[in-house]
Amino acid sequence: MLSNSQTKRLRADATGQRDAFVRAVVDGLSRPQKSLPCRYFYDARGSALFEKITELAEYYPTRTETGILTTYAREMMDGTSSDSVLVEFGSGSSRKTELLLRELPDHAAYVPIDVSTDALAAATARIARRFPRLDIRPMLGDFSELSRLPNDFKTRQKIGFFPGSTIGNLAPAEASRLLLRFKSLLSAEGRLLIGIDLKKDKATLESAYNDSLGVTADFNLNLLAHINREIEPVFDLESFRHAAHYNAREGRIEMHLVSRRDQRFEISGHRFTMRAGESIHTENSYKYSVEQFQTLARCSGWTPVRVWEDSEALFSVHELA
Ligand code: SAH
Ligand code: AVI
Repeated sequence: MLSNSQTKRLRADATGQRDAFVRAVVDGLSRPQKSLPCRYFYDARGSALFEKITELAEYYPTRTETGILTTYAREMMDGTSSDSVLVEFGSGSSRKTELLLRELPDHAAYVPIDVSTDALAAATARIARRFPRLDIRPMLGDFSELSRLPNDFKTRQKIGFFPGSTIGNLAPAEASRLLLRFKSLLSAEGRLLIGIDLKKDKATLESAYNDSLGVTADFNLNLLAHINREIEPVFDLESFRHAAHYNAREGRIEMHLVSRRDQRFEISGHRFTMRAGESIHTENSYKYSVEQFQTLARCSGWTPVRVWEDSEALFSVHELA
């Protein structure tokens, strides 16, 4: 049972989060190229759709990174101190994490961090069942705003885990700022294991974001459905279509929602118009070569130590110190 003050604090947090969501949506839609922040894909439905994406034949990153972790988890965790703390950024379902947790000593702790309440709660419950002696401290929130970890972990060795190429959803300058922040969060002695999707032919990349079952399209459109549910019923989803293409100059997949017709809508008192064919830019997914990512890491306070790849060089996992 929550106390009155706890209930008040939860209500204030929820109101604050909704206000921030409204501000981000109004700000993004007011730009010449309309955009929406991709972290808002992940409400309960968005997290469930992402899980479906990870099982698609065309979406190679998840099974490829899982293969790399399955082969090399022991090597990756070798030499880890007995009371180390595994800190995962954007933990989602925490499925890949199990491969690392299996190799961690008994007194280890696990800090999953995610913006998706439902994904975090479900993953934490499953990990607690599988690893009953593990100290698990879930943190709900934006990893780019996190300034400290639980106090009692101060002196323990920290290993950051940032799989899935989630860092690819940030532009390189933002990615660099995030890596710097993680360096201070994990302290000077911390290590980071980070998954990076590699540059490859345009056809393979584009089919991963234009799957034949239309799950990625549903995931993209869910961003508008999330606004309809959380803010106010604004968008007719039938009036938009999913589009994803590889922008070779920028080295990124871009996802857009393209308006099928001229339309007007209003959000929180702000009026917007869209012409037929105009788009809302919803996500970037940057792809790197191993060398490009290592250069970014070096410019962001980290030293590349080891890198593991699959045999087709589709995906890479980097150890940074
Ligand atoms: N790590 C998992 C999930 C990747 S999907 C994997 O590799 O399969 C990206 C995850 O990051 C989602 O669970 C999403 O909710 C979370 N996420 C996205 N932006 C975030 C942010 N700014 N702060 C915290 N979590 C975020
Ligand atoms: C989480 N992130 C790394 C995924 C990606 O591939 O950029 C999100 C995603 N978007 C469409 N499909 C998957």
